[in-house]
Amino acid sequence: MTDVSPLFRPFTLRGVELKNRIVMAPMTRSQSPGAFPNENNIAYYRRRAEADVGLILSEGTLTRRKGASNDANIPLFWGEEALAGWKQVIDAVHAAGGHMGPQIWHQGMSRKPGTGHFPDAPSDGPSGITLTGKKIGDEPSEAEVIDMAQAYADAAADAKRLGFDVIELHGAHAYLIDEFFWPVTNQRTDRFGGASIEQRSEFAAETIRRCRAAVGDLPIIIRISQWKSVDYNAKLATTPKELEGWARVLVDAGVDAIHCSQRRILEPEFPDIDGPKGLNLAGWIKKLTGIPTISVGSVGLSSEFTGSFRGEGSAAGKLDETIERLDKGEFDLVAVGRALLQDSDWALKVRQGRFSELRDYDGAALKTYF
Ligand SMILES: Cc1cc2nc3c(=O)[nH]c(=O)nc-3n(C[C@H](O)[C@H](O)[C@H](O)COP(=O)(O)O)c2cc1C
Repeated sequence: MTDVSPLFRPFTLRGVELKNRIVMAPMTRSQSPGAFPNENNIAYYRRRAEADVGLILSEGTLTRRKGASNDANIPLFWGEEALAGWKQVIDAVHAAGGHMGPQIWHQGMSRKPGTGHFPDAPSDGPSGITLTGKKIGDEPSEAEVIDMAQAYADAAADAKRLGFDVIELHGAHAYLIDEFFWPVTNQRTDRFGGASIEQRSEFAAETIRRCRAAVGDLPIIIRISQWKSVDYNAKLATTPKELEGWARVLVDAGVDAIHCSQRRILEPEFPDIDGPKGLNLAGWIKKLTGIPTISVGSVGLSSEFTGSFRGEGSAAGKLDETIERLDKGEFDLVAVGRALLQDSDWALKVRQGRFSELRDYDGAALKTYF
């Protein structure tokens, strides 16, 4: 029988006491018609807080930049009505004993032009370059880039005002912040560009510093990924030295934790160095910088998530090795996506050892909202 106790040890993140190590991964559900969180959204998050999720990260929710999204059913994190909805979400999560932060999101050049809440607004990106390297617009001025950074900080300030416990910046998956990290989309020659990953991290650093000024002591998490939505083999850091340089910029700018997005949590980051069972991305970043890390990817399932958008399912998988790595301190928190999307009681069932009730992930779950 799997010993799940390491998953249920408390963890303190910059003074915020989480009751266990389970994080609900941010998952866009496009269930906020009109862009404002509603009763269904409140109930969806409350259920997970009631059922032992230690930290809930919201679905990606948008900054005030008008070109931030491709889908008008994604909730905004600005404006009176949307924020009133989010206030009800966090109050419900707190009443259920949970902790939560919004994942602040700007899709950058991943957005298809002409889509989202403001179809006429231009898309933002570091250099007007698409994810396939095509130049389709002008490079924004430095002042505009700074406004893009400030838009995250404005959302962060609102998160703090509403009573959220943490904020997460979406810096992964080829969205805006990641587009600054990535040389394919960032061809700038000013202080936001450059040949090294450290130099291309300046936009993230600017954003983090502005968020820190906006939220004081509230924990700031940034989510990053090596992989891109258009290239699963992309690597921003090809060596531990590059990885350390990248992570150091983020740590020095003021983040409290790095959420390392992988599709498979057990995949080693540098197997040439420490073998096929070596440290994963979160493990390496924690080892190199000492910063708390969140790891993620196919936890409790046997295959990775991208097929879920085509309605693919995944068989339930073992948790043992993930728990062993957590117990060894390779990373601090474990984020769970699809398993918690399908089953609001997943964490509770794990804590109570009800393993036979942990079902395979059914691709149809994407269409449900409970
Ligand atoms: C329906 C769905 C929506 C997602 N939306 C987001 C998102 O808004 N922001 C984000 O950073 N990742 C998003 N992801 C990725 C998840 O956060 C997570 O990293 C991924 O599903 C892997 O975890 P899993 O294997 O436990 O599902 C999404 C995943 C799914 C399945």
